[in-house]
Amino acid sequence: MKNLQGKVAVITGAGSGLGRELSKVCAARGMQLVLGDVDQPGMEQTLAEIREANPQADAVSLRVDVSKLEDIQALAALARESYGAAHVVFNNAGVSAGGPMWEATEADWQWVTGVNVYGVAWGIKCFVPMLLEQGEGHVVNTASAAGWVNAPGGGIYNASKHAVVAISETLALDLRLAEANVGVTVLCPAFFPTAIVDAERNRPDELADTAPMSEARKLHQEMVRHAVMHGRISAQEIAEMTVAAVENDQFYVFPHKKIKQLIQARAEAAEREQDPFDTMAGR
Ligand SMILES: NC(=O)c1ccc[n+]([C@@H]2O[C@H](COP(=O)([O-])OP(=O)(O)OC[C@H]3O[C@@H](n4cnc5c(N)ncnc54)[C@H](O)[C@@H]3O)[C@@H](O)[C@H]2O)c1
Repeated sequence: MKNLQGKVAVITGAGSGLGRELSKVCAARGMQLVLGDVDQPGMEQTLAEIREANPQADAVSLRVDVSKLEDIQALAALARESYGAAHVVFNNAGVSAGGPMWEATEADWQWVTGVNVYGVAWGIKCFVPMLLEQGEGHVVNTASAAGWVNAPGGGIYNASKHAVVAISETLALDLRLAEANVGVTVLCPAFFPTAIVDAERNRPDELADTAPMSEARKLHQEMVRHAVMHGRISAQEIAEMTVAAVENDQFYVFPHKKIKQLIQARAEAAEREQDPFDTMAGR
């Protein structure tokens, strides 16, 4: 979509990190905003920052849990009631849990898969029919470098983000077959500084963390925290790249170029057929 002025952006995970920055970039492009997050105060903060930069900004928000189909149906209804449309849908909310795979609990799987995979699936299910009806639109799914290459300790997260890449590629092919004027972008960043290191802050009580804090799990958490907080590209820069990809109808976005070399190295490991590709090898 070349011109975003006056169009409607729907952004999940808008109460923090990348979702907040995407909201600001979309507002700066003159878009109307429909924000969703489980974190209502976080969204209030996002709205305050947007209105500080542009008091005329037009935005609505709703507390949603993206893992629940009925919540995303309500978000789609809000977009329709407020603006009569949705044009660019950012399925961005995401959480992370880590540790050796055999220590993960059923609740860990349900929580991370619920937000990272079902959240994207429901965004597509509830909004793509609207985009098709309008005859224009774009879907942006936030995956990760973890959707391509697997670091130890991130089993559930890695699986969920591989699913997001698969869903995005398949969605783009389905839309091509349907000859629809609806674009798709899949965002695949490596680590960048946000509050994802404290993702547990918004974990629901019914899926509470009951896994023991083993030494291996502690080490993994420390490594991820360090890598996230020392990420060299900011959420704001990634948001700019992502919105530019919508404008240029670009499918893959790799803000960290080194990830493409790792994907190549993984393909070579597959070619050799001997050992699993090790993202951490040589570090
Ligand atoms: N920060 C990184 O290093 C990194 C790297 C690659 C990909 N990502 C992805 O970027 C996306 C944004 O994450 P971030 O880094 O900005 O983290 P963040 O924690 O700052 O923001 C995530 C937002 O998602 C919201 N959220 C959590 N569970 C939710 C639910 N059930 N329903 C609705 N909203 C929910 C949180 O409240 C929060 O506002 C995620 O999909 C994440 O996996 C992040």
